[in-house]
Amino acid sequence: MALPFFTKPKHTKPLLNRCRDDLATKMRLKYDPYYHVIQAQQGSRIQLGGRDMIMLASNDYLGLSFHPKVVEAGQTALRKWGASPTGARSANGSRAYHIELEEKLAAFLGREACHVHSSGYLSCVAATASFAQKGDLIFGDKNLHSSLWDGIRLSMATVERFAHNNPDDLREALEASSPAATKMLVLEGVYSMEGHICRLPELAQLGEAHRCFTVLDDAHGLGVLGEGGRGTAAHFGLGDQVDILCGSLSKSLGSTGGFVAASREVIEYLRTNSKQTIFSAALSPAQTAIASAALDVLQNEPEHRERLWANTRRYRDMLHSLGLDTWGSETPAIPIVLGSKERAYPFWQALREKGIFTIMSIAPAVPAGKDLIRTAISALHSDEQLDQIGEAMAYAVKKVGL
Ligand SMILES: Cc1ncc(COP(=O)(O)O)c(C=O)c1O
Repeated sequence: MALPFFTKPKHTKPLLNRCRDDLATKMRLKYDPYYHVIQAQQGSRIQLGGRDMIMLASNDYLGLSFHPKVVEAGQTALRKWGASPTGARSANGSRAYHIELEEKLAAFLGREACHVHSSGYLSCVAATASFAQKGDLIFGDKNLHSSLWDGIRLSMATVERFAHNNPDDLREALEASSPAATKMLVLEGVYSMEGHICRLPELAQLGEAHRCFTVLDDAHGLGVLGEGGRGTAAHFGLGDQVDILCGSLSKSLGSTGGFVAASREVIEYLRTNSKQTIFSAALSPAQTAIASAALDVLQNEPEHRERLWANTRRYRDMLHSLGLDTWGSETPAIPIVLGSKERAYPFWQALREKGIFTIMSIAPAVPAGKDLIRTAISALHSDEQLDQIGEAMAYAVKKVGL
């Protein structure tokens, strides 16, 4: 029995005890897999704990966060507009630079209008919560990002989860639903944990046949897939069947923030009804200018996408040659599935030992038996870095005894 001397007295407030006793927090602090503080970064090279390492888990797919034109645009905007719009778009926070980015993004995505928020998370919550209501029916792929689930929950609509990327399961759920119900279908273009491309043609067609309002979060498809990097709908040559495209500016566009793109009447409805839009401060001048400059670079310099895909192919082939399971990833977001935390943790540690920064993701964050190391390739990775990554992977495979 623990001696009273060593046990801390209970808080009088139950919530303080909940914080102190939380098992997930205790485990996180014990194994220390998250919240690592990087002391310096130059492209895909970082410094962590005084050591040089290669970043292999960034969403900066095209490496544009370090592009000179992008950095320059952020600096210029900061000097011209100051640090913050200091208010919501609906009140004092709308600026010419927001409109410029929104028009540019809408044109790029082939939509009439667009609205940008200060995070992709907010955009995805807004894209779902603002449109569905209590009494409506939402069909969501069971592997959707948390931001979409939060929006779905906030809407108070009834939710039907269908099996991941599975048109048969969606069909069954739709056929069992009331034809009279107001319906929404929520999908991701590229599922970020698995790297899977959405089976959009079949899923969107089913949505269309059952009069669903379809929301597609293309956070990981924008800049990566489709003609000129226009995303997953463009990849399949689809447009009309998707009512809302939402996503993030923090991945291929190397900034922070998010967007919702749709027809003008849908965007105006969002501006009237979305609490995330009305009650949160606007995207900052620097981050807006950065996203806008990155969008120009994406359109004018195709070499970044070409390099991204060449790196992705080489990296995926290397993983397969080592016998590693990449969960069928088809994109630069590539998981290494190890199947249990007892294998994932030492694998992650071995990569770290060899100077490779990755992210461990274990159940319940991923389905049981899918415990994995999340990695992502960037156009910034050099051939030498890919060699070094290959050597580290071989070392980790040996060390874990796979
Ligand atoms: C699929 C998906 N949607 C939305 C978001 C939220 O974007 P942000 O991080 O820019 O807020 C993310 C980010 O991880 C994501 O992966």
